[in-house]
Amino acid sequence: MAQIAPSILSADFARIEEAVKIADEAGADLIHIDIMDGHFVPNLTFGPQLVASIRKKTSLPLDVHLMVENPRSFIPLFVEAGADWISIHLEASIHLHKDITMIKEYGKKAGLALNPATPLHLMNEILSEMDFILLMTVNPGWGGQGFIESCHSKISKLKSWINGQNLKIPIEIDGGVKLSNMEDLIKDGADILVAGSAVYGEKDPKETIIKMKELAQKAGKP
Ligand code: DX5
Ligand code: ZN
Repeated sequence: MAQIAPSILSADFARIEEAVKIADEAGADLIHIDIMDGHFVPNLTFGPQLVASIRKKTSLPLDVHLMVENPRSFIPLFVEAGADWISIHLEASIHLHKDITMIKEYGKKAGLALNPATPLHLMNEILSEMDFILLMTVNPGWGGQGFIESCHSKISKLKSWINGQNLKIPIEIDGGVKLSNMEDLIKDGADILVAGSAVYGEKDPKETIIKMKELAQKAGKP
């Protein structure tokens, strides 16, 4: 069954604790935390201190999405802060194998994130080493953007590639996920759905996560 990862990027930054509690109580599977450095993407968000504070408030796995240049220099800081899953961007890492190995040597799940226009074949030599793949389905930088429709076929292509190699690598979808497109995304092959504005932009974020979980369960039945 597909997992739901609420992204606190769309929460009220003055009430992050509440946003995390809502996700926890609604039965979310992961907390997605977007780290932006103002270089790789033209926006700034959180640092390791915030991750360390969230760590104290939930036992859910913390899924840290590094949208930063030179990710290697940040990996130890986020491990120390309590990240469980760490994804770095293929476009941002020069020594990709080395950086992925570093995350794994810390005992954390290593994810590779790809921007919408980055071709899948660039993962050819590293795919089998990955714990998960994060496909961006909007251009990274902001929450609340519309899903890029051409990404549907990219998801199914990646799913067939993974299955064809007899690999078990979850595909995480990030950007423009909503209750209305979730089922299609699960059909395409999504295993983890990140949702920011679709959760925290709603009047009742808790109820929305519960609905997403129900939909994921329904879509997962043969
Ligand atoms: C965008 C971030 C996403 C963001 C998604 O750069 O990586 O995780 O929170 O937001 P929505 O779900 O609103 O598209
Ligand atoms: Zn993200």
